Amino acid sequence: MATAELAGKHLVLGMTGGIACYKIAELTRLLTKAGATVQVVMTEAATQFITPVTMQALSGRPVYTSQWDARVPNNMAHIDLSREADAIVIAPASTDFLAKLVHGMADDLLSTLCVARDCPLLVVPAMNRQMWQNPATQRNVAQLRADGVSVLGPDSGPQACGEIGDGRMLEAAATYEAIASFFAPKILAGRRVLLTAGPTFEPLDPVRGITNRSSGKMGFALARAAQQAGADVHLVAGPVALETPWGVLREDVQTAQQMHDAVMGSVANADIFIGVAAVADWRVDHASEHKIKKTAGHALPSFAFVENPDILAAVAQLPRPPFTVGFAAESGDLETHGEEKRVRKKVPLLIGNLGPLTFGLDDNEVILFEAARTTRLPRADKQTLARALIAEIAKRLPDTSPIR
Ligand code: C5P
Repeated sequence: MATAELAGKHLVLGMTGGIACYKIAELTRLLTKAGATVQVVMTEAATQFITPVTMQALSGRPVYTSQWDARVPNNMAHIDLSREADAIVIAPASTDFLAKLVHGMADDLLSTLCVARDCPLLVVPAMNRQMWQNPATQRNVAQLRADGVSVLGPDSGPQACGEIGDGRMLEAAATYEAIASFFAPKILAGRRVLLTAGPTFEPLDPVRGITNRSSGKMGFALARAAQQAGADVHLVAGPVALETPWGVLREDVQTAQQMHDAVMGSVANADIFIGVAAVADWRVDHASEHKIKKTAGHALPSFAFVENPDILAAVAQLPRPPFTVGFAAESGDLETHGEEKRVRKKVPLLIGNLGPLTFGLDDNEVILFEAARTTRLPRADKQTLARALIAEIAKRLPDTSPIR
């Protein structure tokens, strides 16, 4: 998770009654860690599930539960609290509270705040599957959407009541992602982005293989930033231990050939291709079907290698290529090799990692190579850098309408 990506944002976090209140403790921690200030407001029912003391400790601010709170000098908490807010987030949002919002009811502090707001409203529903599927709830959700309210989730899966189905609240991390996404400028709205990320794995036999030290962090960070920027994102990933960014379509592959085939199968739908994967240059010509045995007195195994397809170059050479971006990780003299590589692979933009090799690290410093110039971006964590790179890519797209 990036640091300070919600820096300076002020959120009113409205909690209504539901067992999912326990998730809001973690959500508050994630939001404050990301630089947001969080003003918790709880309904009476929410205080039955988690105490205001817990929420005060986590948010670092006094919690409001009553319209008649004597701490507000002018007695207008319902006006004052929302005036400072960049958004009100209702999480968990109960069935009852959604219904109240639809009708503009204002019979407690939180509902009054929502009616009196002049900022966006986001709701994160949490309820039993029957309550969610109830036609009244579905009508209410449709009406809220029509009123411009953002509905985040719900998720599907096991519920506190023991039943399984739609209605459970998004996990805290997913709720955080959806809120961060809400605030990101939609500079890639309507664009389709295809990326590769991570290493590839080229088998020698059924248990051994050749891979590299790419962690996939930069590619996954770019996929997340592109999704937050409003793009439709398809991520073709080699073997990595990373969670799929929220809202991103992920396709897992092992070998360079599989990665090539996955990319070629989808590239016709892409407006932008970003090749971040550290693709193996070679594979063993014929991987052994059986585990190669270590036999005393026998010669050591030797392997014949063949070249893998260059995915980036193949995309760039298509008759109507998407806007194609490559990456380069060099162990020395990036300045010379970067531009040479960009020209050789025929891509308009190549992003060079300024050494030392950054595999697995959380931050990075890059230089952008393109025909007319080079641009250095300051060292930053990979998520911050990913946002900056997405902004740089967006600036270079031919126009704002879909490219193809
Ligand atoms: O030639 P090199 O591996 O340094 O080039 C790096 C760039 O080319 C990266 O964008 C990488 O994803 C891409 N690449 C590729 N297919 C290969 C080798 C590299 O797409 N077989």
